[in-house]
Amino acid sequence: MQLAVLAGDFLLSRACLTLASLKNTEVVTLIATVVENLVTGETMQLTTASNKRFSMEYYMQKTYNKTASLMSNSCKSVALLAGHTTVIAMLAFEYGKNLGLAFQLIDDVLDFTGTSASLGKGSLSDIRHGIITAPILFAMEEYPQLRAVVDKGFDNPANVDMALEYLGKSRGIERTKELAMKHANLAAAAIESLPQSDDEDVIKSRQALIDLTQRVITRNK
Ligand SMILES: *[C@@H]1O[C@H](CO)[C@@H](O)[C@H](O)[C@H]1NC(C)=O
Repeated sequence: MQLAVLAGDFLLSRACLTLASLKNTEVVTLIATVVENLVTGETMQLTTASNKRFSMEYYMQKTYNKTASLMSNSCKSVALLAGHTTVIAMLAFEYGKNLGLAFQLIDDVLDFTGTSASLGKGSLSDIRHGIITAPILFAMEEYPQLRAVVDKGFDNPANVDMALEYLGKSRGIERTKELAMKHANLAAAAIESLPQSDDEDVIKSRQALIDLTQRVITRNK
């Protein structure tokens, strides 16, 4: 365990050195923000009080912190390092942010469904750890009784089953996928807003970025 922590510190120090070698303070700030967001996103997930755990807005913020911040700020950094304008850097940021949100929303669906289309076939690791994600939040809007089940915690497997039953009756999975699709489309729209180019490589690369937005929502693992 101690060695694992030190190995992590070592990797982080190497990453800091590589980052510093870019000699671009704005990019250093962006990547440092990613690390801050990541750590707060993950800790919030473990420590948050119940009223906030049931807020969709809070869930989306946490999702941004723990997943989409890395993608948005990395995309923006690349645009800045390539010498693009702030307008282009903002579009790159929007692309990464929405791609990251779509990715995580689908991840939360897959935790319930796994590779199959049916509920309960996923690893169920979120709910077993008491982590409430979008499918359950949406299901709770339809079935407020679900809240009492969630409040009891999920140490008892019978409670997990009961939550899955409500989820299955609700549109929770469907609405989460719809929300993921909305963000995937926003990501694609950011790429389409980039200034027109006739360069074949540029056209190909942009198409690949757009294809990726579909890939994250149709993946099943
Ligand atoms: C997201 O990260 C920021 C700063 O890193 C922090 O202030 C905020 O509380 C975090 N929010 C959530 C919901 O994790």
